[in-house]
Amino acid sequence: MFSGLIKRPRRLRNDNIRDLVRETGLSIDDLIYPLFVVPGKNIKEEIPSMPGNYHWSLDLLEKEIDRIVDLGIKAVILFGIPESKDERGSAAWAKDGIVQRACQKIKEKHPDLLVITDVCLCQYTDHGHCGVLEEGRVKNDSTLELLPKVAVSHVEAGADMVAPSDMMDGRVGAIRQALDDRGFNNTSIMAYSAKYASGFYGPFRDAAHSAPQEGDRRSYQMDPGNSREAVKETELDIEEGADIVMVKPALSYLDIIKTVKEEFNYPVAAYNVSGEFSLIKAAAEKGWINEQEVVLEMLMSMKRAGADLILTYFAKEVARWLNEGKIK
Ligand code: PBG
Repeated sequence: MFSGLIKRPRRLRNDNIRDLVRETGLSIDDLIYPLFVVPGKNIKEEIPSMPGNYHWSLDLLEKEIDRIVDLGIKAVILFGIPESKDERGSAAWAKDGIVQRACQKIKEKHPDLLVITDVCLCQYTDHGHCGVLEEGRVKNDSTLELLPKVAVSHVEAGADMVAPSDMMDGRVGAIRQALDDRGFNNTSIMAYSAKYASGFYGPFRDAAHSAPQEGDRRSYQMDPGNSREAVKETELDIEEGADIVMVKPALSYLDIIKTVKEEFNYPVAAYNVSGEFSLIKAAAEKGWINEQEVVLEMLMSMKRAGADLILTYFAKEVARWLNEGKIK
């Protein structure tokens, strides 16, 4: 009889067994929620291309942080939109800059919430590039003089972790050194290590008003065709002192997440970027997909690939679903 030869993996897919043998889990502890902070008062302005995400002035941010903490989210990453921009992005390291004030405000009330700050110049320069521009070129080493100032100013304001996203060579080392010199040797660095030049950042650049006025970011962000280079970039960041390494974007780069995870004994973060968020929101609005199913499947794929942490604009929704026990 043939039936005795049939192997039956379906046995483990019964309702009462499935959960017990699931290999990958998703938990609120994995999630980092990005927030956009702006100067002014009484501002809660929805970002049109990212429904459910807002520009927050600090007075209204307070309540939003309460909600985030109530949901059980353990970490946020802050992006600032400054009052004014200049050639070198000096508002990025101002003592009373928007991110610095946000750090102080959040930490006063919620010392246990992990506050991470994005360290970059693109929201702060009038040309919109992530570094200093000289004769139309983004200058690496001149930028390295500025980024540590930004990182130090965030940490002095209370940030627990800094996340350099500019992709200049040597920036992790420069920031580590500057922090250590000031006694912040316990402050960790999450490096955007394998950050690709990606079309998936479109909605974010609207949100952060950070699109380059001229040219693009391909002279410093990675070429989507490369994976060995991701290993090299990550290796350099680890050598320079990164504590957590990041792959960004996530969804089109699951292979990179897996490679980085297998190659290094370090926590890997995946950035589920704005374009990945907006595609799902738009399709769900049209009724073409089931938002919850697709979001969970997508985040699970990042975890399965090897991500330990996920930065995602869906964090609040996912936390709600997990709290309500709606996830099966
Ligand atoms: C700043 C920065 C960007 C993102 C995070 N930090 C934009 C960029 O590099 O153009 C993208 C985040 C997203 O798309 O959600 N350098």
